[in-house]
Amino acid sequence: MCGIFGYLGKRKAVPILVEGIKNLEYRGYDSAGMAVASDKGRVISAKAVGPVVYLEKKIKKNRLFNGDLMAGLVHSRWATHGGVTEKNAHPHTDCSKNIWLAHNGIIENYSELKSDLISKGHKFKSQTDTEVIAHLIEEAKKKNSLVLEEAVRVTLKSIKGTYGLVIFDKREPGKLVIARNFSPLVLGLGKDELFVASDATPIAPHTKRLVYLKDGEMAVLKKGGYKIFNLDKKEINRRHLDIDWSYEQAQKGNFPDFTLKEIFEQPIALENSCRGRIDLKNKKTVLGGLAGLENELLKIRRLIIVGSGTAHHAGMLGKIFVEELAGFPVVTDIASEWHYRRPVFQKGDAFLVISQSGETADTLAALRGAKKKKILTLGITNVIGSTLARETNAGVYQHIGPEIGVAATKSFVSQSAILLQMAIFFGKQRGLSDAAAYKILRTFRNLPKLVQKILDKSEDIKAVAEKYKDSRDFLFLGRKYNCPVAYEGALKLKEISYVHAEGLPTGELKHGPIAMIDKDFPSFFIMPKDSVYDKNFSNVQEIKARRGPVLALTTEGNEDLKGLADDVIYVPEVPEILYPFLAVIPLQLFAYFSAVLRGQNVDKPRNLAKSVTVE
Ligand code: F6R
Repeated sequence: MCGIFGYLGKRKAVPILVEGIKNLEYRGYDSAGMAVASDKGRVISAKAVGPVVYLEKKIKKNRLFNGDLMAGLVHSRWATHGGVTEKNAHPHTDCSKNIWLAHNGIIENYSELKSDLISKGHKFKSQTDTEVIAHLIEEAKKKNSLVLEEAVRVTLKSIKGTYGLVIFDKREPGKLVIARNFSPLVLGLGKDELFVASDATPIAPHTKRLVYLKDGEMAVLKKGGYKIFNLDKKEINRRHLDIDWSYEQAQKGNFPDFTLKEIFEQPIALENSCRGRIDLKNKKTVLGGLAGLENELLKIRRLIIVGSGTAHHAGMLGKIFVEELAGFPVVTDIASEWHYRRPVFQKGDAFLVISQSGETADTLAALRGAKKKKILTLGITNVIGSTLARETNAGVYQHIGPEIGVAATKSFVSQSAILLQMAIFFGKQRGLSDAAAYKILRTFRNLPKLVQKILDKSEDIKAVAEKYKDSRDFLFLGRKYNCPVAYEGALKLKEISYVHAEGLPTGELKHGPIAMIDKDFPSFFIMPKDSVYDKNFSNVQEIKARRGPVLALTTEGNEDLKGLADDVIYVPEVPEILYPFLAVIPLQLFAYFSAVLRGQNVDKPRNLAKSVTVE
């Protein structure tokens, strides 16, 4: 949420910053702004409402941006405080326009601070919470003649809230000060140059060497290197990590957008999430991230899985996998709800958090609540070195490369695949038979090919989407393994095509929702030939009896639905536990084509941003 990118080095900063913020735009795209400084303390800035290209156009028109500007920062905004206007776009500055900063996060006590600053004569130009930081730094510098890092330190001690900050003062050229508290910030170590960003994507073209800042830390970046400190001035030494994906993976290639690219990457995403982890010969799964913890994992009596949005849906699927294969209870919850309640833990509990980005504020808050109770914490994330990865006791990485489309697609199949492997692992510890494990694993290994088969027929799904493109409401219905898939199908449709959609366990239809059904209200049934097929079939008839249009996803070769459902989509036959991996693909494609046909910006749906780092 909000993208920040900063550069300090020997090259001209402007083209690097422009390119960088384009790669980070999925974190926020309502406005953007840049400030760059020369070694002599000259600053040029620009802001624009709308996508980053508008900022880029402004910069191209202004020759001053061509100068020797070797340090700077750029920001793409997802508005929290204050409307989407140029004045509210970052960077923000103090009264004297010496201090420039970009911020991701929320300053909770900004209104008291602002009143106090106004009473001291400070003039505010924006409605944002962020601007108080610039004035506070100005005030601290003025009062005590502090260097920038000292003034920032004093300021950070007076603010409450979350921040990822990049700051410079034009009177101290060749220096950036950065700070983090619950909003991600990562340093990139190039040759004679330093980068800082909200995530690794814009740094990847320049260097693979990353250093993640932790909460409550700040760093001073200078031409000769960098130093990390905590807010009590204690210097911190941290080894760098290497990114495990290439810059090309963060590009669209021949696809019209990232969302379609990522939908089509799912065969390889599945392969990568299982690589080296399926031991077919010994009928088991091998999860390196859990190695050494076998005894503790065997003591688990209850697993609590939390996540947000799509990650929560994967967690719901994980619950069914674990209960079915390992036979111990699992509760799942939405992270934001879990951590507001008074969770009751018991002996033998373990806490599993799922987050593609590893930086979702709600999910991290839930994790921190569990850690306070000294519960074993496990994680599933895609981002190496992310906060989730660092703060859990152990976990499993997704290894699917960057997911840039705001709608989570490949992350769902990957998280679900890891959950199934975990369930088999827990199951084998608790007596799951070799035969049962083998039956699943044998086909599981072939899922990439089966997913590819569905993708190869994407034009068929497009034709179905075309038929329903004017529908304003949708129900997505599934039972057992496919209930979480129904939730996920509905979420995809609403978030990228803005069509009202609800995911429901099919059995709930008769307890209320069926009242909405009429000839204009379609229902999308996810009903492969599985143990609950007959029940679903009766529900289809109930909808048809009320003249509701029905789209049905079922198993290849099943002829029952012809003449009953209005449209039928087929997926290959697999053991029932594996259907979610196949069923979700047509739903993603349906949402994708529905959005394209409605003319929506699929990669950057309105009001949303990738990686929700504020609560
Ligand atoms: C839906 C979507 C969101 C994310 C959610 C969690 O398509 O993208 O619902 O799944 O914000 O994000 P992570 O997995 O990064 O914690």
